[in-house]
Formats: sequence, structure tokens, C-alpha cells
Amino acid sequence: MLVSAKDMLNKAKAGKYAVGQFNINNLEWTKAILLTAQENNSPVILGVSEGAGKYMGGYHAVVGMVKGLIQDLNITVPVALHLDHGSFEGAKKCIEAGFSSIMFDGSHYPIEENIAKTTELVKTCNDLGLSLEAEVGSIGGEEDGVVGAGECADPEECKQIADLGVTMLAAGIGNIHGKYPANWAGLSFETLAAVSEKVGAMPLVLHGGTGIPEDMIKKAISLGVAKINVNTECQLSFAEATRKYIEAGKDLEGKGFDPRKLLAPGFEAIKATVKEKMELFGSVNKA
Ligand code: 13P
Repeated sequence: MLVSAKDMLNKAKAGKYAVGQFNINNLEWTKAILLTAQENNSPVILGVSEGAGKYMGGYHAVVGMVKGLIQDLNITVPVALHLDHGSFEGAKKCIEAGFSSIMFDGSHYPIEENIAKTTELVKTCNDLGLSLEAEVGSIGGEEDGVVGAGECADPEECKQIADLGVTMLAAGIGNIHGKYPANWAGLSFETLAAVSEKVGAMPLVLHGGTGIPEDMIKKAISLGVAKINVNTECQLSFAEATRKYIEAGKDLEGKGFDPRKLLAPGFEAIKATVKEKMELFGSVNKA
């Protein structure tokens, strides 16, 4: 069964740990993350960007695959299926398809429009028992063709959006999707502390979890971050494991070309990455 992310994130915020959101791209990815969550007795959030949803065939296909895996693999830890950086239209489609959690990324709209659209979605999500994530201050880097400059959020605007009744809030604090450039200035803990003070108990979300040094992750959690998104790191470990397999010529040995064998190293690599993150975020044994 899919659950809203509300309880798991409120517990994480109160307990000073974070739940990982791991983005999914296909069946192997999803199975690897669900099994790792179960093995580590950790709550988990599966993130789906609009692009990944389209790639997997559509939102109904995603819901069917995730629900089927939860049932067939006997996954009993809390799992939320979450739209990542959704447009207003995408959010409505995912709600209809059966997602249990939605992110509406209205950060590129003027604040008034972000507020109006978020308000409408708060009502729908509340009525249906779904969790809703809002964003203030864009996250840097490129995601599905949308390029953000990585500005820091205005704590006052964060409070305005938080007061609308969203479940969790992503505030830009100098974080970037994808790999961090060598001259990256690091996270703005000053912004994070100011936002945290304004929004009180609301769980905060840290996007761009790939490549943030461990000490910064821990400090961010101590300042109220309760959900951390990881995508690129799983992609990199999957790609590297697959490349090694092919470079060693294993795809040409025996039945090595069988997709179940070809994708196995990447599957194991994602499991290892997810386990490492769950340990770092402190969500092991918190299901
Ligand atoms: P990374 O790709 O940098 O891990 O960021 C993931 C993310 O924030 C998804 O919303």
C-alpha cells in the first residue's frame, strides 16, 4: 500500500533524521530501492519526474508497477509515491492516477501565482489524504530541461507558502541538481536556519542530494531538513556498474547478454547507494 509522506516526515523532523527520496526510472530501479528500504527497515519516498513518468509509459503505468512490486515483494515499510517537480497540470494528472504524494514546483511563478496554485492543490491533497511539497527559491542546475539558477529562498515567502498548509517545503539554499561544480559555494546554512525558524515544525526538503559532503548533510538535518532527494548518484552508480560489466566483455560471455544478467550489476549498485544514503540520513530502523 502507498502512504502519504506526512507521517514519515513529521516523525523524521521530530527525530532529527531524514527520509530519502530516490528517483525511479524503470522496474530495476524501483525494485532495488524498495528491497533496500525493506532490508533496512526504512521508510522511503519514490520520486518520479514528469520526464521519467513519460519514459515509463505514463503515470498509471508507474502506479501499477509500484503497487504491484509492493504487493509481490511483501514490502511492509512505508512507501510514498511522489511526483517530483510537478507542473500544475502534471500534479492533477498524478493525483488522478493514484500517486500518494505531490510536489508542485511553482518556484518559477511570481509568488502570488505560486500561492494561488499551491492553495488549490492544498485543498485537493487534503481532501484525498495526499502529502504536498511546495518550493520557494529555485534549485540550481537542470532537471528535465528546466534550468534553475540556484537562488536562495526568501524566509518570509517560505512562511507564506508554509502557512497555506502544505506538508513539506523545499527551500533553495544554494543546492544544485546533478554534480556540484568545483567552485560551488556550499549550502547556505544562514538561509536554512532563517527558513527553519520561520516555518517551525514543518519538514524541510533538500533537493540535489548528490555530492553534498556528509558534514553538510548532517548539519542540514540538524537545522530541520527531513527529506533529502537523490537522483544523479543512483544514475552514476548504475552507469558505472553497467560500463564495467560491458568493458570486461561479460555481455559477450555465455548468456551475459540476457538483460537480467546485463542489468544485475547496476541493480546491485543502486542498492548499495541507497543503503549508504539511508545510513547517512539516519532513516534505518525508523519504519
Ligand atoms: P540530484 O540529481 O542532484 O541527486 O538531485 C535530485 C533531486 O533533487 C530531485 O528532485
